Amino acid sequence: MSWLGGERIDLDECESTNDLALVHARAGAVHGTVITADRQSAGRGRLGRTWASPPGTNLYLSAIVRSPRPLAELAPLTLALGIGVVDAVRAEGVAAQLKWPNDVLVGTRKLAGILCEACPEPGRGNATDSCVVAGIGINVNVRAAELPAEVAARATSIADQRGGPVDRAAFTRGLLATLEPWIDRFLAGGVPAIAAAWEARLATGLTLRTGGHTGTALGLDRDGALRLRDAHGVIHRIHAGDVELA
Ligand code: BTN
Repeated sequence: MSWLGGERIDLDECESTNDLALVHARAGAVHGTVITADRQSAGRGRLGRTWASPPGTNLYLSAIVRSPRPLAELAPLTLALGIGVVDAVRAEGVAAQLKWPNDVLVGTRKLAGILCEACPEPGRGNATDSCVVAGIGINVNVRAAELPAEVAARATSIADQRGGPVDRAAFTRGLLATLEPWIDRFLAGGVPAIAAAWEARLATGLTLRTGGHTGTALGLDRDGALRLRDAHGVIHRIHAGDVELA
């Protein structure tokens, strides 16, 4: 039986669906609770960035994921979410790929991003369970040119790629159905259970820069770290931080 989106809160507007999901998680919202908003007034991206969240066009969604696994083991959940987002976008005929850890790209342009955040307290319910809020932002029907100038040149959307809009409600239902088995697979088996699928969707051939190293992505380590090969053939393990297109 499907659990993702079994409880749903769909809003016209909020500051950030992640912030709201964290509040609901602390109040005991069940595993799989999904919050969406048509618009975010303070959408947040990774590393403290702003996530442009105009109304009437895109998908801003946060899901509460609970697991008996220790919180430290849930960090690579973000990789499983990336697989699901890529597959949902591909189902719309768009050739999306992944850039570590979870940017969804078409070519070198970003179409979607994922921000996973730990719930600081377990909340009610099973107090031993860990809890993560999985925030997903997808440029669905916005045209990249309509986004703020600082992101427009590096962004794209499903509508840009298809040449026309898609039904956001149907896309959201499809996304939840696509995500759920990948989350389940990760929660049951960790990174080894999803690594091959993640690598099969990896954008290869891009030159990446991160933490003082420049190179090409090879794939994942057992713990979800990125394996990056530099120009000398040395392989570096990247655990955290920003990975930019060079
Ligand atoms: C990134 O920097 O790539 C991650 C972007 C994540 C944006 C989503 S939109 C829904 C959820 N609410 C937020 O404030 N952020 C995430």
